[in-house]
Amino acid sequence: MMHFGIDFGTTNSACVGIEDGRRLIKFTDGYGNPFPSIVIIDRATGQVYCGREAWRRREELRGSCEIITSVKTLLDSGRVWNIAGRVWTPEMVAAQVLAALKRRVSERLGEQDALREAVVAVPVGFPAGKRAALRKAAHHAGIEIKSFVSEPTAALFCHYEEVGHCVRVGVFDWGGGTLDVSVIENRNGRVKEIATAGLDKAGDHIDRLLAEWMHNRIMSEAGRKVSFDQMAPEARDKMLAACEQAKKDLTWDDLVEIQIVNYGDVRFVHEDVEFGKFSQLIGPVVDQAVQCFEDCVRRAGMSIDQLDCILMVGGSVNLRPLSERIARSWRGKEFYPPESEWSVAHGAASLSVSPGVHTLAQTLGVVMSDGTLYPLLREGEPAVAGERASAVFALVEDDPAASLVFADGSGGTLGYLNVPSFGFFREKIEVCAEIDRDLILHIQARSMNRSARTTREWVYNGLRVNYQLPVTRLEVADGG
Ligand SMILES: Nc1ncnc2c1ncn2[C@@H]1O[C@H](COP(=O)(O)OP(=O)(O)OP(=O)(O)O)[C@@H](O)[C@H]1O
Ligand SMILES: [Mg+2]
Repeated sequence: MMHFGIDFGTTNSACVGIEDGRRLIKFTDGYGNPFPSIVIIDRATGQVYCGREAWRRREELRGSCEIITSVKTLLDSGRVWNIAGRVWTPEMVAAQVLAALKRRVSERLGEQDALREAVVAVPVGFPAGKRAALRKAAHHAGIEIKSFVSEPTAALFCHYEEVGHCVRVGVFDWGGGTLDVSVIENRNGRVKEIATAGLDKAGDHIDRLLAEWMHNRIMSEAGRKVSFDQMAPEARDKMLAACEQAKKDLTWDDLVEIQIVNYGDVRFVHEDVEFGKFSQLIGPVVDQAVQCFEDCVRRAGMSIDQLDCILMVGGSVNLRPLSERIARSWRGKEFYPPESEWSVAHGAASLSVSPGVHTLAQTLGVVMSDGTLYPLLREGEPAVAGERASAVFALVEDDPAASLVFADGSGGTLGYLNVPSFGFFREKIEVCAEIDRDLILHIQARSMNRSARTTREWVYNGLRVNYQLPVTRLEVADGG
C-alpha cells in the first residue's frame, strides 16, 4: 500500500508517495518539478486548464481566461469568481488543483484512484476555517485528509536523521510564492512552534525582476520604448520561462545565456547574464528574506547563535546570492537538504506511514463560582479527534440561564456560553468537549432537566497544540 503526503503550496503542490515504507515516488509535473497550483478557466467555455503547460502559457491565456493563482491564501476568504455562468469559490478552485494532482498520480502509477488519502502539510497558524475549507476541497477531489501537520514539522521529520538531535531549529522555507520562516523547539520529537513569520516575495517575484531587467536591456539595445507589460502575453511567457531557467542555472554557473526566438518583433534574443549582475539585482529581496528570518528569531526570544540548526527548504533556498549572503552571519548553522522543494511533502508522507499525534499546548476549562478553573482539557494530553471529555456542574444561583465561562490555564477568558436552565438550586448542567479532525474544539452544554433541544454549543478555533513525532531516542543517563 502506498502512503501519500501533500505539500499544498501557494505556487506548487508537491506530492510524495511511500510504498511499503521504502520505495519513494515524487509525483512531478512531468518536468521534474512539483505540480503547479495554478488554475486557468476559459471565460467563454468554462474549460479548466491545470499543470505545467498551463503555467507556461499563463500570460498568453490571460486575455481569454481567468488565471487563479495562490488559491491557498484565498481559502475561506469569501472571494468568488463568476466565470462562464458558473460561480467558483476558492474551495472549488483548490479542488481542481488536487484533482489534477490525483490524475497525475493515477497516470504515473497506472492505477485509478490510487491517491485516496493523504497527510497534508499546512503553514504554522493556518486558520481552522482554511483547514476545514481545504479538507472539503480535497474531499471534492476524491482525497481524504488523514491529518494535517505543520510544514516546518514535516520538514523536520523528513530530515530527522540529520537534524533530529537539534533542539532549537529555525526553518527557512522559500518557495515560489512565499517565504515562510519559523522557530521550533524539538525535545525528543515533541515539537513546539515558538514563532513564525512570512514574506510574499519568492521565486516568482525573482523571475519577474530578472525578466523586466532583461527586457529593458533588449529594448534599449533595439532603441525602443516598450515596457514589459506592454509586450504580447506569449512573449512575456517566453521571457519568464527563460529567466526562471537562467536563475536556476546561476546556482552553478557564473554566466548563463538567455535565448528567445521571436520576442515581440526582435527576431532573436541572445543575451548573457552574469552572476554578479544577477546577485546585485536580487540583493534587496535576499536582504528582506534574511531580515524576515532574523526578526522571527528575535521574536522567539533568541539569537542566531542560540539556534542549533537552520533547515533550508523550498526551491528558492538554492539561490546562490542567498547562500553567500548568510554563510558568514548564520555561522554555518544552515542545513541544505538535497531536493529541498520535496522535503515538506516527503515528511508528510512519512507521517502517513507512522503517524504522530497532536498534543494540547494549553489547559482549557470552565471557571467555577469561586474563580478556580475546572479543566476539561489538560496541557500535554493528546488531542484525539472524536474523543469526548465531559463533566457535570451544579448551579449555585437560581437563574433562568447558566452562564459558562471558558478559560485557559493561566486564567485568560476564551469564551462564554449561556445555557437555558430552570434555575433550581443545584440543577445539573452537563458539559461535553470534543475536538474535531480540524482541531476545532466544540463544547456542548445543557441542563440535564431540559430537553436535548436546549443544548448550546461554543466553537473554539484557537486551540493551541504541539506535535509529537513518532520517534524514540535514548537519553544519555548522567555520567553515561
Ligand atoms: N536551483 C534553483 N535556484 C533558484 N531557484 C530555484 C531552483 N530550483 C527551484 N527554484 C525555484 O523554487 C520555486 C519553487 O519552490 P517550491 O516548489 O518550494 O515552491 P512552493 O512550495 O510551491 O511555493 P510556496 O511555498 O511559496 O507556496 C520556483 O520559483 C523555482 O524557480
Ligand atoms: Mg512551499
